[in-house]
Amino acid sequence: MIIAVDGPAASGKGTIAKALARHYHLPHLDTGLLYRAVAATVRRMELDPEKEADAVAACDFDELTLADPGLRDDDVGQLASVVSAHPLVRAALLQRQKRFAHQEGGAVLDGRDIGTVIAPDALAKLFVRATPTIRAQRRHAELKNRGSTVSYDQVLADIRARDERDSSRSAAPLVPAADAALLDTSFLSIEASIAKAIALVEARR
Ligand code: C5P
Repeated sequence: MIIAVDGPAASGKGTIAKALARHYHLPHLDTGLLYRAVAATVRRMELDPEKEADAVAACDFDELTLADPGLRDDDVGQLASVVSAHPLVRAALLQRQKRFAHQEGGAVLDGRDIGTVIAPDALAKLFVRATPTIRAQRRHAELKNRGSTVSYDQVLADIRARDERDSSRSAAPLVPAADAALLDTSFLSIEASIAKAIALVEARR
């Protein structure tokens, strides 16, 4: 049972994927963390993302690396969206994600291209979205909670820039799979979003 959860930044896909994994007792992979780990390494080692990011991506990021809370920072997300546009970076991370998706018993993965590239054979595909302003409000509140002083306008500008980069790239752009169920969380609470997601998965079983 593979469940693919795709969508733009701060759409709620991560929260929904985690809840689905709990509900169905499946392992969960937040694939954005892989691209974030590549971005963090590129920055730390002062590498050229154009030339050297694929070598970094080929390293085996373990659970410990992926648990680093610094990976969640907004600037890491921005750089992740730059490095992730490179076909070599995507290729280096492909097998690992496919293996995770196709493990015995199934899995839940969230990202941008799970339903289209990593697991086109997924039982259920959800494409989670929300308006840019609502996503910016959520992300701004989350960052403020973590002590950041970034302005709402800056967060909104970052979200729009990342949407544009993720959607317009030629390698695995952010688009719903043809057979994905759309879930708009703009006016739904977290609980309501999760209930809707479970109902959509049940409809595919
Ligand atoms: O989902 P998250 O915001 O953590 O992802 C960070 C960046 O990684 C995204 O903006 C996107 O460019 C990239 N990404 C991707 N494919 C995925 C997951 C993330 O290209 N499956």
